[in-house]
Amino acid sequence: MGYPHAPHPRETQVLSTYFGDAEARTLAGWRARGGYAALEKALGMEPVEVQNVVKDSGLRGRGGAGFPTGVKWSFMKPDGKQHYLCCNADESEPGTFKDREIMRWTPHAVVEGVAMGAYAIYATVGYIYVRGEYTEPIAQLEQAVKDAYGAGILGENAMGTGKTVHVHVHRGAGAYICGEETALMNSLEGRRGNPRIKPPFPAVAGLFAQPTTINNVESLVAATHIVVNGAEWYKQFGRPDNPKSTGTKLFSVCGNVTRPGNYEMAMGFPFGEFLWDVCGGAPNGREIKAVIPGGSSVPILTPDECRTAVMDYEGMVAAGSMLGSGGVIVMDDRQDMVRQIARLARFYAHESCAQCSQCREGTAWTTKILERIRDGNGTAQDLDTLLAIADGMTGKTICVLSDSCATPVVSGLKKFRHEFEAKLKASPNVVSFAEAQQASQRAQRGGSSMAARVAASMGQ
Ligand SMILES: Cc1cc2nc3c(=O)[nH]c(=O)nc-3n(C[C@H](O)[C@H](O)[C@H](O)COP(=O)(O)O)c2cc1C
Ligand code: SF4
Repeated sequence: MGYPHAPHPRETQVLSTYFGDAEARTLAGWRARGGYAALEKALGMEPVEVQNVVKDSGLRGRGGAGFPTGVKWSFMKPDGKQHYLCCNADESEPGTFKDREIMRWTPHAVVEGVAMGAYAIYATVGYIYVRGEYTEPIAQLEQAVKDAYGAGILGENAMGTGKTVHVHVHRGAGAYICGEETALMNSLEGRRGNPRIKPPFPAVAGLFAQPTTINNVESLVAATHIVVNGAEWYKQFGRPDNPKSTGTKLFSVCGNVTRPGNYEMAMGFPFGEFLWDVCGGAPNGREIKAVIPGGSSVPILTPDECRTAVMDYEGMVAAGSMLGSGGVIVMDDRQDMVRQIARLARFYAHESCAQCSQCREGTAWTTKILERIRDGNGTAQDLDTLLAIADGMTGKTICVLSDSCATPVVSGLKKFRHEFEAKLKASPNVVSFAEAQQASQRAQRGGSSMAARVAASMGQ
């Protein structure tokens, strides 16, 4: 089994250095490459010192939200309670497949990151919650954990330090929602993976009602490199004028692109150069039409927006989207945007846990309306209705799955409205297209804040 592509000269390899190197999977091979030096060093420090190095490095969570990892760790105090670390390896966001590669090529790096993270938050137990379909990474992780226990790296006397660190691998339940941190904890406890209302936050009452930290695979592995090499070393990767986004990040690239795959880039890399030079643009001489840069739940970008965007948290926000999980989905000029957005909506409707009516009903209605437009049966009010539903789905639910469905719909409608309009014009349910535009204007005159927002976002 070989890694799909040789590293591109413009990649900055830290986490991906040993992708494709089968020897790095074994305990002996991992140790020969400097493995477990981070855990050893951390176990010789006070947990709060480990927290501080990671805090100083500026590392932000790679699971999507970008919350600073060291700050999250600093919420955990030595209070005598049983603490837990959960490594979020559920990776179900469409377009995202980076954690899979970290786990399958460097499973000991994950075990090391979890053990080190657990120690840093005063926990003696770490769980790796892995997407159930990831059979090969699960086997790799289980073997790595077994070998680490066999070598005395894990256990009651971890690395001969007298400190206790246990790591367990847990197969996920096969639902996207189980990647949400509180749903993950419910699932780990053997219950249905429904998100919990916050507060209480996991740092106060998480897994088994004890103080808990949840971190993405990539965040934990990046933290091991920071502990070994120092915060300053990590900060060198990134834009000098942007201390808020440091280090490297793995980007998963898929869709209509010449060279798909995982790429590790320094924060701040120009997105246009990444798409066209590193990944080769759209295949067969076609043009890129749209890109979702951070996993399916972030706003869609046009090619012009991509050309000037920068690959870090602030750069993507400035371009009108988000860095998210780093799943880059590329669509070329053959793609029907109504069809693509309808597909995304169907995914979210299928994955909604149905606890919140705004999400349960909103994802279902969004899908129904988008599919009716896609099939040429839209009505004059459909675009208004879609935006009004999206408004009702945003910022009002237990978790952000509902918002994640609304976001690509709203941005898709804003940026590719002409494609929606073309389908409506041809629909037998629309007597005249002027009817649709009048509906928007009526809504605007109506003066309700929602109607005004709907009209504004339609460019009226
Ligand atoms: C619906 C939903 C699905 C999510 N799926 C994942 C996932 O698969 N992996 C992940 O790390 N974070 C996922 N997250 C984000 C987690 O809730 C959490 O923020 C993250 O694991 C924290 O780790 P980090 O601070 O290291 O980024 C998801 C969030 C939501 C709302
Ligand atoms: S927003 Fe959706 S997925 Fe999240 S808790 Fe509510 S119903 Fe469940």
